Amino acid sequence: MTNARITLHPDFTVGTVDRRLFGSFVEHLGRAVYTGIYEPGHPTADGDGFREDVADLTRELGVSMVRYPGGNFVSNYVWEDGVGPREERKPFIDLAWRTIEPNEVGTDEFLQWAERMGIEPMMAVNLGTRGVDAAAALVEYCNGEAGSRWADLRIANGRAKPYGVRLWCLGNEMDGPWQIGHKDAHEYGKLAAEAGKAMKLVDPSIELVACGSSSMQMPTFGEWERTVLSYTYDLVDHISMHAYYEELEGDRASFLASGTAMDRFIRRVVASADAVGAQRRSDKEITISFDEWNVWYLESRFPGEQNLPLQRDAPRIIEDVYSGLDAVVVGDLLVTLLNHADRVPVACLAQLVNVIAPIMTEPGGEAWRQPTFHPFATTAQLARGVALDLRVQVPTTTSARHGETPVVTAAATWDEAPDGAGALALFLTNRGAEPAEVTIEHDGLTVRIDGGAQMVADSRPAVEGPAHAASVIEQCWSELPALGEATGRTTVTLAPESWTALRGVATRG
Ligand code: AHR
Repeated sequence: MTNARITLHPDFTVGTVDRRLFGSFVEHLGRAVYTGIYEPGHPTADGDGFREDVADLTRELGVSMVRYPGGNFVSNYVWEDGVGPREERKPFIDLAWRTIEPNEVGTDEFLQWAERMGIEPMMAVNLGTRGVDAAAALVEYCNGEAGSRWADLRIANGRAKPYGVRLWCLGNEMDGPWQIGHKDAHEYGKLAAEAGKAMKLVDPSIELVACGSSSMQMPTFGEWERTVLSYTYDLVDHISMHAYYEELEGDRASFLASGTAMDRFIRRVVASADAVGAQRRSDKEITISFDEWNVWYLESRFPGEQNLPLQRDAPRIIEDVYSGLDAVVVGDLLVTLLNHADRVPVACLAQLVNVIAPIMTEPGGEAWRQPTFHPFATTAQLARGVALDLRVQVPTTTSARHGETPVVTAAATWDEAPDGAGALALFLTNRGAEPAEVTIEHDGLTVRIDGGAQMVADSRPAVEGPAHAASVIEQCWSELPALGEATGRTTVTLAPESWTALRGVATRG
């Protein structure tokens, strides 16, 4: 048995949990758009061709924001070709995923879908093959009032009211040699600064995200952030981070400790950004848009995915099937994000449907949940108010990839009401093979746990469609009973290799 002690106090907080932490991502890649969110002719399709069954699951997932249209796709995308009358739109070869893109869904279709869903859109502009002009024009198309060229085109295309898109990514993974129009940090920094300047002149209310490194393993990591921010610091609001985790060579312990790698990555990017700020004697703090994160079996299951033959008709690519183990890691990555709520206001689980996604579909058939759906949906639902700054005393273990890592991790949120009571949520991961007894010290708070849910690290992937996925989930996902009320201290036992969420009420005194 592992023993852990967590101390929480309502006055010690990390920061407010931004709702945009529960974002996701829809790229024109594989079946994310076509036969994913969009499939005219599907029995549940709405008047615009979007699947209602997928919309229902997206709502249940609690997604607050969706990034679009890429990803690697955006770096060769001509957005003007995806607006206007559908019959006049031409297909093109998307070079990122070597797929014929029919241009049936474009900016208007996506933004109207997001609006109907009550989801905030996050748009990316092409800084691979294009530049300042196209980026500023897209902001004008989306957010401009009548009386200028691109805003008037939107109106002519049937949408009078500006969409008011707040969040904008200045390109995607521009440090990656695989990116169409890849640039070095100086080339990208200058272009991002000029594009961002023009975009903010069109609409000063927008928030900008500069591309950070594609992963912590990139050879330019650190220097990339420093150089890019030296050009863009005063202009941008966020720097992006992307990270995918997988079990490699059967090293389960390292995979379960992925949250530690994410934690270190965040700390290093924050340090790099703050170093630029310090050099400039700036009071401004750059925050992080962790706009791609997930479990992705990139190296072990799909090593050739980047060298695809030319495909058409929404090919089945990167359709990872997940297990309870993957879901425990996803839950633990969310614990890490919550513990950085002060510097990470924006994050996107990559992606939403079919492509490394919590939601899967069959063309003409059902839509269903993968095991990873549950920790995301539960966290998005319960994490409200402020993230508490916990003191966690736990044993550590050594993993081959990440060195010393804690066996138990925890995050807590509290949404205080004016009467001093408030919804409390606790998120706990036991990465170890033994059960863990966790004592939660909450001096100054009376805590009532009303129930919760637990994911255990079953290794069977949900491979054979909806029925199999449901049976895998039944084995690894369960509801937990209420624990009642306690003053001063609450004790819980965590199953080996598990992720747990507890919901309740905490009252001062
Ligand atoms: O999410 C899949 C791909 O991963 C995205 O297109 C790219 O940005 C990243 O490398």
